[in-house]
Amino acid sequence: MHLSPAGTLGIDFGTSNSAMSWAGPHDNSRLIPLEGGAVSMPTAVFFNSEDHRTHFGRDAVAQYLAGTEGRLMRSLKSLLGSPLIHESTEIDHRPVSFLEIVTTFLAELRTRAAQDLGAAPERVVMGRPVHFVDDDQQRDAAAQQSLLEAAQAAGFREIRFQLEPIAAALDHERRLTRESLVLIVDIGGGTSDFTVVRLGPERIARPDRVSDVLATTGVHIGGTDFDQRLSLEQVMPLLGHRHLGPQGREVPSRTFFDLSTWHLIQWLYLPRAIAQAQTLRVNYSDVRLHERLMRVLRERHGHHIAHEVEQAKIRCSMTDADTTVDLSIVEAGLSAPMDMAALHAHLDGLLERTVACARECVQRAGLRDDQLDAVYLTGGSSALRPFQQVLRTAFPDVPLIEGDLFGGVAAGLAYAQT
Ligand SMILES: Nc1ncnc2c1ncn2[C@@H]1O[C@H](COP(=O)(O)OP(=O)(O)OP(=O)(O)O)[C@@H](O)[C@H]1O
Ligand SMILES: [Mg+2]
Repeated sequence: MHLSPAGTLGIDFGTSNSAMSWAGPHDNSRLIPLEGGAVSMPTAVFFNSEDHRTHFGRDAVAQYLAGTEGRLMRSLKSLLGSPLIHESTEIDHRPVSFLEIVTTFLAELRTRAAQDLGAAPERVVMGRPVHFVDDDQQRDAAAQQSLLEAAQAAGFREIRFQLEPIAAALDHERRLTRESLVLIVDIGGGTSDFTVVRLGPERIARPDRVSDVLATTGVHIGGTDFDQRLSLEQVMPLLGHRHLGPQGREVPSRTFFDLSTWHLIQWLYLPRAIAQAQTLRVNYSDVRLHERLMRVLRERHGHHIAHEVEQAKIRCSMTDADTTVDLSIVEAGLSAPMDMAALHAHLDGLLERTVACARECVQRAGLRDDQLDAVYLTGGSSALRPFQQVLRTAFPDVPLIEGDLFGGVAAGLAYAQT
């Protein structure tokens, strides 16, 4: 039997992507290769009903997109803290709870860590957002408890938690040459988290860093909310969202809302939900739109559409060019427009709320903006151009540092001293 290696494993179990790091007792942490050479992987599980195997990460997404028969699970973290986490779904004629699926994913991470380290690690620091659930401490505590139970069931023995933005700060600190007051900004798939911290090379070795954390704030807004909004506004009208029926009333919007929300899509495929959607037909004046909706549900294109919306969002943000959401999987030649004006029109409200949370963090720290040395950006959605614009307007004189988009939190978790 291999002994558990000496050191700490950090697991950033993200809404969209997960990453892991490892640090020996006196070493800098390093990110662990998870899928080929890649050091982060989509938090995705695919239950393949053709080969009856479970696939993870890019492999899971690729199998789903290739049309393989099976079930895709994404945004599992968004279910933590909600009663849905204890609900079951049918996998290969067996009910499996979503918490068990989280466990399966964490167990796979542990196996991949063991492949890299030579033995399965037992001591882990898991990241957690500042709030799993906004404004509900009970549900927030339940979310962490569920994650703890899943980590235990996955085989970890010594499990601690650290706030994700603090972990990102501890990683950034390793690259600093002088003491600085930094606003850490982590905009992920599910949450946006902030912390104001005092960082510096001389402070790294201090045993107690609590007094260096001046404030933390967080809000449950992230890239999956951006995808949802963009899907609802740009794509769902093609399936009947806001479409007027013969009585001049809009088609009820619930189905479109769920179809645009990564972690709710799978419920639309239940026979009861399909039957419910079928009854919407009388609400359409153009029944071709309803037929499209039914095709999407029956042929289970929901995750595919969400994926295409996400890709169009990223393309548009990175290139500033007009692009389209490819919907040819639904119907030959079908697409929806996506451009910078749409990003601003549909996302600026959410982005303002996110940046308000950053401002509140600085206020709670008791600082004026000119006392900040830098704003440090991490998390995939921090690359969103409209977000950076709103942030620059809020902190016009503070230098922005664009950090590691996908590895920063994981790298810092292995240093956590909670
Ligand atoms: N270049 C980009 N521009 C805009 N958004 C991007 C870009 N690249 C990735 N994203 C978005 O970043 C999000 C994923 O970021 P990340 O991996 O940091 O989240 P996470 O850690 O899984 O989520 P959380 O921390 O909220 O649990 C996705 O919503 C994705 O669409
Ligand atoms: Mg994250």
